[in-house]
Amino acid sequence: MSVGPTECPPYVLKEMSRPIYDLRDRDLIEIHLENLELLRRIFHSSGKIMVFASSSFSAMEAAIANLVEPGDPVLVINSGFFSGFMAEMAQIHGGRVFLTPSFEEQPITLDAFENALSECDAKVVCMVHNETGTGLRTPIERLCLLAHSYDALTVVDVVSTLGGMRVDVDGWRIDVAFAGCQKCLNVPPTLSVASISERAWQSFENRKNPVKLWYLNFKTLKMAIGEKPIFPYTFPIHSILALNASLKHLLAEGLENVYERHKRESTVAKRFVRELGLSMHNRCEACPGCENEEAYCALTVTAFKTPIQAMKVVEKMEHDHGVRISAGLREHQEDVLRIGHMGWQAQPPFTKATLTSLASTLKNLGLKLNYEEALAGLL
Ligand SMILES: Cc1ncc(COP(=O)(O)O)c(C=O)c1O
Repeated sequence: MSVGPTECPPYVLKEMSRPIYDLRDRDLIEIHLENLELLRRIFHSSGKIMVFASSSFSAMEAAIANLVEPGDPVLVINSGFFSGFMAEMAQIHGGRVFLTPSFEEQPITLDAFENALSECDAKVVCMVHNETGTGLRTPIERLCLLAHSYDALTVVDVVSTLGGMRVDVDGWRIDVAFAGCQKCLNVPPTLSVASISERAWQSFENRKNPVKLWYLNFKTLKMAIGEKPIFPYTFPIHSILALNASLKHLLAEGLENVYERHKRESTVAKRFVRELGLSMHNRCEACPGCENEEAYCALTVTAFKTPIQAMKVVEKMEHDHGVRISAGLREHQEDVLRIGHMGWQAQPPFTKATLTSLASTLKNLGLKLNYEEALAGLL
């Protein structure tokens, strides 16, 4: 129940042990092309779909490097740890970076975003749907539409939400959305995926300066998606097969059911943690509830404060119950715990086992909390 890499279901693991394919094998190419179409449905996208033979940060860097030219104004919504990397990459690739004030505990408001947009005349706006370190959700559905009305290109990190929460690329006018395969898609860490809008593609094609990258250049990656596709380099073949199994499974369940399932499991976990007497990391007590449109907790992560050192809880829980959750990131590695409700992990038996193990672990570590009430609410 970590926040990623997540546990792989048996139908994914089975694919990881198949005999090897040649990279030019027609059947493998067909499976890859099918993956692009299945991903299109999950992204709700009519743009170009790409698969990268590398982790999510490579898709992040590809998006930024291919769209940002030296001197271009780039607005980054400072929502925490992962948005910081977007700012760093935009700077490395020559952008003039405008970082908003910190919105690590509460999401940016539309007004604050519009002020920042009009002040910097951004060509590209970067944001993170779910800061996995804190579980803070940024309302990308409204921000991207607004950015679009200012003619800015939007680059959105949906690494820990795609396949668990709705990401409506066309409806929300997202120009580049990218994700990893090791979160809600439950594939061993290897691949990342992206959707690129026609507008973003045009902007890439009309660049005045060449992209100073080969491996992650859209032109190189296009070889795997155009007519007569070939892989430009050695892709992790088993991950392509595993991704195929995972995507088919997800779509067979139905996207609406998938989103509902994540919402349900996330709500159960967040309620339990609050009933124990612990508080959410991102101050979401201020919001009216997880189902509310204004809520700012992501539905794929429950991040909460722990009075006991986080790694001590994580290790004891794994040792005593065989259930692994995650500690916080960076300055919160000691005082924050995180449960991942991602893909296959977001199921009632797993949630229940995790929450009961958590309660037992905290109790055995001597923490006084409302165990009885919280556990009674779980039944
Ligand atoms: C929101 C977010 N963005 C980016 C990344 C980086 O992903 P990767 O380790 O796959 O490069 C992560 C990893 O946890 C993440 O949660």
